Amino acid sequence: MGHAEHARRAAETIRDASPLRPQTAVVLGSGLGGFVSAVRDAVELPYADIPHFPCATAPSHAGRLLIGTLAGRPAYVFSGRFHYYEGLSFKRAAFYVRVLHALGVRDLLLTNAAGLINLDFAPGDLMLVRDHINFSGQSPCRGRNLDTLGERFFDMSDAYSGELRALAHAAAEETGVPLREGVYAYMTGPQYETPAEIRALGILGADAVGMSTVPEVIEAAHCGLRTLCISCLTNYGAGLSPDPLRGDEVNENAAARAGDLSALLLAILARL
Ligand code: HPA
Repeated sequence: MGHAEHARRAAETIRDASPLRPQTAVVLGSGLGGFVSAVRDAVELPYADIPHFPCATAPSHAGRLLIGTLAGRPAYVFSGRFHYYEGLSFKRAAFYVRVLHALGVRDLLLTNAAGLINLDFAPGDLMLVRDHINFSGQSPCRGRNLDTLGERFFDMSDAYSGELRALAHAAAEETGVPLREGVYAYMTGPQYETPAEIRALGILGADAVGMSTVPEVIEAAHCGLRTLCISCLTNYGAGLSPDPLRGDEVNENAAARAGDLSALLLAILARL
């Protein structure tokens, strides 16, 4: 059975679990799982019950899909995502995007926790991702291309949809939640960066750094989903502060910003 068939089967299971037919999916990053309390009338599917889904193992990633309503609209909410550092390939980490495409989803709203590099920003800031730099050399689209899904060689210049970013800024204005904008550097992890790496990433144009999101953004650009990503800047990148980096601190700081991020996401959803 090929990848496409796997995606079709996973989509079938998800479709059978709820009569809702969302056109929007939200993915919750590290420490941001609290947003699930905003989902109304949810049906819950553990990832283990969805055929061919990888299991989420990262700390604070619960590993379940909620199908419910947000701001009065149907939505898929993924609590827990998939990472390359867990041992998954880029293709496996981005598999759920193929499933969303099979389900007819149009918009993908991603969140993550990231370290800040640009010192104009402060820990706790929310940063709309304008673009990324993929420091892995990997792609989920490596291998035979499925022409029905997208082109072999595809454009990445609007991978973080300009339309959705404009809408996010409008939502930020309306809710009064400050929203910065910048470039996200992807590093594979699981180790945090070295201070020299953080300096190098800054020189190369990155404003923030993290270990997620990029595989699925590439897959989404391939199959034509509109994508938005908001990073919660949980900490200074290595070497920018005297404190050593700790994963539990990242989660705590993300959780502390979950209220504002939720308000912003709901205002964005209401405008879709
Ligand atoms: N580096 C990489 N990933 C991260 C960081 C960081 O400093 N903070 C949260 N995710």
